Amino acid sequence: MAIHIPEDTLSEIRNTANITDIISERVVLKRAGKDHVGLCPFHSEKTPSFTVSPVKQIFHCFGCGAGGDVFSFLMKYDGIGFFEAVQSLARRYGIALPEENMSPAQKKAVSQRQQLFDLNRQVMAFFVDQLTNQPSGQRAREYLEKRGFSKKIITQFGLGFAPDGWDNLVRFFRKLHISQSLAENTGLVVPRKSSGFYDRFRNRVIFPIADVTDQIIGFGGRVLDDAKPKYLNSPETPVYNKSRSLYGANAAKNKSRETGDVYIVEGYFDLIALHQHGITNSVATLGTSLTAEHISLLSRGFAQKAFLVFDSDEAGLKAARRSISLFMNAAMDAAVIVLPEGYDPDSFVFEFGTEAFLKAAEKAMGMVEFLVESSIRKNGLSMEGKVRIIADLQGPLLEIHDRMARSIYIQYLAERLNVNETAIAEKLKSGEKKVRRARSGNQPLPGDSRPPAEDNPHFVDSEMIKIERQIVSMMINSPEILPEIKKRNVLVRFSDKRLREIAELVLEHPVYGNEDLSRLMNRMTSPAHKDMIASLVIKDDCRDLNQCAQLLSQFMNSIEKRQNSLLSQIKSAQESNDEALLFELLKKKQEQSVNRLR
Ligand code: CTP
Ligand code: MN
Repeated sequence: MAIHIPEDTLSEIRNTANITDIISERVVLKRAGKDHVGLCPFHSEKTPSFTVSPVKQIFHCFGCGAGGDVFSFLMKYDGIGFFEAVQSLARRYGIALPEENMSPAQKKAVSQRQQLFDLNRQVMAFFVDQLTNQPSGQRAREYLEKRGFSKKIITQFGLGFAPDGWDNLVRFFRKLHISQSLAENTGLVVPRKSSGFYDRFRNRVIFPIADVTDQIIGFGGRVLDDAKPKYLNSPETPVYNKSRSLYGANAAKNKSRETGDVYIVEGYFDLIALHQHGITNSVATLGTSLTAEHISLLSRGFAQKAFLVFDSDEAGLKAARRSISLFMNAAMDAAVIVLPEGYDPDSFVFEFGTEAFLKAAEKAMGMVEFLVESSIRKNGLSMEGKVRIIADLQGPLLEIHDRMARSIYIQYLAERLNVNETAIAEKLKSGEKKVRRARSGNQPLPGDSRPPAEDNPHFVDSEMIKIERQIVSMMINSPEILPEIKKRNVLVRFSDKRLREIAELVLEHPVYGNEDLSRLMNRMTSPAHKDMIASLVIKDDCRDLNQCAQLLSQFMNSIEKRQNSLLSQIKSAQESNDEALLFELLKKKQEQSVNRLR
């Protein structure tokens, strides 16, 4: 939900909430010159590379590249959205968010969400009371006890009971004078065909689902016997989105940050069982497969490494195939834990205990390793088996866009199969061409997570990008150079898309002070862009105008040299009839001219 908050209010909040104060409440900081440094909360490290600049009111980690202003910090650290970050600071410092600046529709949306949060919390209390105090909750109490769950964990997760009957909640809502539309929006009551509503959850143990800020967003419910369906969940509502929510996220946050790891399981009871056994850096998906949004939530504020825990090889294989590109492209490490046949995390920890689970985690395989080993188990190592294995792995391997990483995995596969590495690489290449040809031009397919060509490290020259970074850093830190940049038409030559986008914005909105800088950050919706700006600002190497001009000339000269060398390479590829190389080179050339036309 995009809500417009006036620039004045944002800067009032930013100025009142000193970034150093806010961060030092969460990270131990030490003074170092004009900056403060500490251990980065966003990746695990032993020597501090996390830097906060009180002068510029930004933070930047030289280790993992995270960066931004006070709002970006809270967004990352608490895993919340921009509006929530603004709201929490405004609330804390008693700054009013001018509601009159919201459109009526926005006002309504905000208050509707708040009403739903409040009502959900009352519903949770209703279900908790049924479980703990009412005679009708007796069977559910026994059920939970039989499964081994402690009173403490039941209270911590706010487990409850929805009694049998069609209108327990309907009557509860009526008593509270809840409007029909609000009641319906909770997803907890379902409209009848004729008129009125009936309860969605009946005779079920209830799991309230909280988001990372501890608001109740939805519910799940399990029957007490073998009735079907075993589980029911809230439908999507204005506050509940399954592909963005993870069960237990709020409870897992602290331990994940501490250890840098997070376990991802698939069930409510699996999650609670792990927490009861002290494995509190665990979250669960909510009856859906893992999405890019889940991974981004986890990698932003939780951990650098995910352990996917699966009940069986087959389930693990499917999920690993599906999510491999998500992890690779989110730069989050992932490993797969497969439990022994017939066990899920819940039954496993209750039977074998915490130590055994942690041991299984130690033996977890990397995702590619897991795919390779499972495929070997399935197909065997006969000649035919090997052919099938390579065909089987072609898809997942093609999802890995980082050339270096891919070649390392190919090497591993080649060694395991005792097959020539180049042969595998060539087979992949032909597969890749087929994929490309199947696409019209360069248009990515819907849902394709492949980054655009310019973002792909394989297409860009790291030396050039280094200079491009210096140029943008100079543009931010020394605005007097901007006319020269414009005159020489420098930005169209940039090969890095992200840098070019930032530079174009800086050209449009020059940075003369911290206010302009924060405004620039807030114009960037992507966290990656914010990270990059913070890193450019903090590595300020103070150039004079003369040095700036030199840097520009150096850049333009290299561009020219590169073009000449590309042309001569094309010529020699033509002469030697190397079609594959020629194809690559022509593509590169085309990209350069496309850049310039932009
Ligand atoms: N699930 C669901 N709807 C279903 C079945 C399952 O949403 N009809 C989701 C639930 O989140 C559930 C998870 O998938 O927790 C895993 O399902 P399953 O393995 O069948 O159950 P368990 O979690 O093992 O539950 P239990 O131990 O209570 O049998
Ligand atoms: Mn189970």
